Amino acid sequence: MEVIIQPNPEAASRLGARYIARLLREKPHAVLGLATGSTPLKLYAELIRLHREEGLDFSRATTFNLDEYLDLPRDHAATYRRFMEENLFRHVNLRPERTFIPQSDLPGEKVAAYCEAYEEEIRRAGGIDLQILGIGGDGHIGFNEPSSSLASRTRIKTLTARTRSDNAPFFASPAEVPHHVITMGIGTILEAREVLLFAFGAGKADAIAASIEGPLTSFVPASSLQLHRRARFLLDEAAAAKLTRQDYYRWVFDQKPLWQNP
Ligand code: F6R
Repeated sequence: MEVIIQPNPEAASRLGARYIARLLREKPHAVLGLATGSTPLKLYAELIRLHREEGLDFSRATTFNLDEYLDLPRDHAATYRRFMEENLFRHVNLRPERTFIPQSDLPGEKVAAYCEAYEEEIRRAGGIDLQILGIGGDGHIGFNEPSSSLASRTRIKTLTARTRSDNAPFFASPAEVPHHVITMGIGTILEAREVLLFAFGAGKADAIAASIEGPLTSFVPASSLQLHRRARFLLDEAAAAKLTRQDYYRWVFDQKPLWQNP
């Protein structure tokens, strides 16, 4: 694991965007795994800037989003499809038919087969080259809440009360937050060739310390990344504040050979 501590979310997002841009330049038909939430907003803004000002090309790329609410009409303002349209898709040259996000208005009896088909679609695209992740205050990745199987695949999950209340600001009232979601599993995420997890703010410091320096446990889903061969954590100072080996991570980053930098 590589732990990269930057002075603020802007700097961490700019660096993250450079990793993604490098991948797209080396492999224009790359498959990106995308996240929603407040954390990747600055990253997406920087990717849009790179597209507009430096010609970063998404035209041959494919994207798969981690998750989506269930029991929401497709045109609801809080769907992750809408979030992605507004914050990335409509501003870059991704082909709409190459942007995959689980469907929010599936009837219950179709969910299991749909989730298998989503996994199959990822395989058909050649697997995810780079997965972007945020992290919940309880250590969740995607919507894999604590105690999710480390081998889990795309499936329906029930949100915890904490995640529902964290996400309530995006809905007209807390009661409107759906109880159920579709999410890629931890096993699905671990198959991505490369992972970039972003975490900003003091509210993420406990989850980050537990994920990086704590034991591997399904109680902290992001600790599963300890098993990944190419996982990078891009943190601001506040999210890194409870790591005991901060000096070491900074030292390693400062010593990196130039050719390893994006
Ligand atoms: C979103 C997702 C979630 C978020 C996490 C953090 O697609 O998968 O795991 O990354 O809940 O959310 P924010 O970034 O809003 O703090």
